[in-house]
Amino acid sequence: MLFFPCYEVINVLHILNNLQSIILNNLLTQSKRKEYTLKEVSNHYRENDCWMIIRDIVYDLTNFIKEHPGGHDIMMEYAGSDATMAFTDKPHSKHASRLLQKYIVGELVFEERMYDNMSQELTITEQEW
Ligand code: HEM
Repeated sequence: MLFFPCYEVINVLHILNNLQSIILNNLLTQSKRKEYTLKEVSNHYRENDCWMIIRDIVYDLTNFIKEHPGGHDIMMEYAGSDATMAFTDKPHSKHASRLLQKYIVGELVFEERMYDNMSQELTITEQEW
């Protein structure tokens, strides 16, 4: 009868687990975000339909504007437009950057992007703002 030492079995399980993570990561990074033009984003400027662009990523912040700790009006000034400067100029914590992640709906079309780190949501959260 064949006998596999316990550590061998654990090693095999470990390798399988790593393989699974690699495959999943590849699938996730390959899945493409929807792309929008500045013009398309500009149609979403209302309180009940409020999108913004921050560092080339497009966010639907409709459900967040009323919760914004800095106030509702200040955010509405940027509804449907690029709020990168406004967001980065104000004292926003990493918590604020992390919050953003759940509102992503897409990214700007390539020709209209302005930042090197476009479409890298992890890069954005890891940055100092
Ligand atoms: C669109 C432009 C924005 C402007 C001009 C702005 C402005 C501000 C200001 C002035 C404060 C400070 C409030 C205070 O200390 O009294 C603040 C706080 C905050 N904002 Fe914004 N904000 C913007 C967008 C956003 C977005 C998109 C998010 C996240 C989805 C966000 C999340 C927060 C959070 C969580 C705080 C509390 C402090 C912190 O944790 O950083 N803000 N904001």
